[in-house]
Amino acid sequence: MNIQTPNGSTGTVMDDATFTSIAALAKSEAGLILSKAKSTMVQSRLRPRLKELGLSSFNSYSDYVTSNAGMSERIKMISALTTNVSHFFREPHHFEILIDQALPDILAKARRGEKVRIWSAGCSSGQEPYSIAMAILDAAPELATQDFLILASDIDPKITEKARLGQYSLQQIKGIPATFQDKYLTSVEGQKDTYEVKDEIKKIVRFRELNLLAEWPMQNKFDVILCRNVVIYFDAETQSDLWPRFHSVLKPDGWFFLGHSERVSETSMDKFSPIGLTAYRPIVASK
Ligand SMILES: C[S@@+](CC[C@H](N)C(=O)[O-])C[C@H]1O[C@@H](n2cnc3c(N)ncnc32)[C@H](O)[C@@H]1O
Repeated sequence: MNIQTPNGSTGTVMDDATFTSIAALAKSEAGLILSKAKSTMVQSRLRPRLKELGLSSFNSYSDYVTSNAGMSERIKMISALTTNVSHFFREPHHFEILIDQALPDILAKARRGEKVRIWSAGCSSGQEPYSIAMAILDAAPELATQDFLILASDIDPKITEKARLGQYSLQQIKGIPATFQDKYLTSVEGQKDTYEVKDEIKKIVRFRELNLLAEWPMQNKFDVILCRNVVIYFDAETQSDLWPRFHSVLKPDGWFFLGHSERVSETSMDKFSPIGLTAYRPIVASK
């Protein structure tokens, strides 16, 4: 359907049935919940996809993206529909817990030659894993030479590529403490007001594409997992399915952090005990 928009241009509009079909696909592919109230947002984010594919209606887009031939378009659709907003050192109270409470044990394990692994699940453009790396390496530089890695994963391949590049604008780096800016960033030659994370930080962060709803291929358990501001886009059932899965890949002495408006569901509170605002330790069942 084409209508005349207020600025006089012709815009494509999504009908209810098409919205329902796109919303169902976003839920089955990525767990994203798109209520009818988000219809305008969905349309504006998908309009460039129609343009790129040369399609004249959302209806034909929906037919294509739900067909076998539309498999690769599904990834692009999810990429367009996810919200990737992130900041360096977001929710600073988690960094206090990480450095003041978790780091002494992490360091002791690394000194004993044990693997130490942190997982930033839903890492977006990299600010979260790079903030962790800066905070930890600053407090314990010796970890750079030990078996210490941060896995940073996201469903969106475009965003993990951006994260891997590690380049940020002057505005984006404002959340990084000045001492860390001097120590861990370098200005990008020929690009005004663009800064890049130094190799010593990049070296300890591994970016991977991973859908939290799919199989998790990792073999090692994690000392710390952060899944912040990700499950807020999922429904209660999808969230409930994730808590036991996170618990199963967290070491018994691990740490688990969620975003400010997220909570472990009541049904999984036998698995996690809260130790602060959206911070948890796993409960280990006694034999
Ligand atoms: C708002 S960002 C949060 C970034 C970072 N954790 C933070 O708190 O600043 C949410 C991220 O979750 C990712 N995401 C959404 N659904 C996902 C899924 N099913 N599996 C993995 N990542 C997903 C999005 O691509 C997006 O980059």
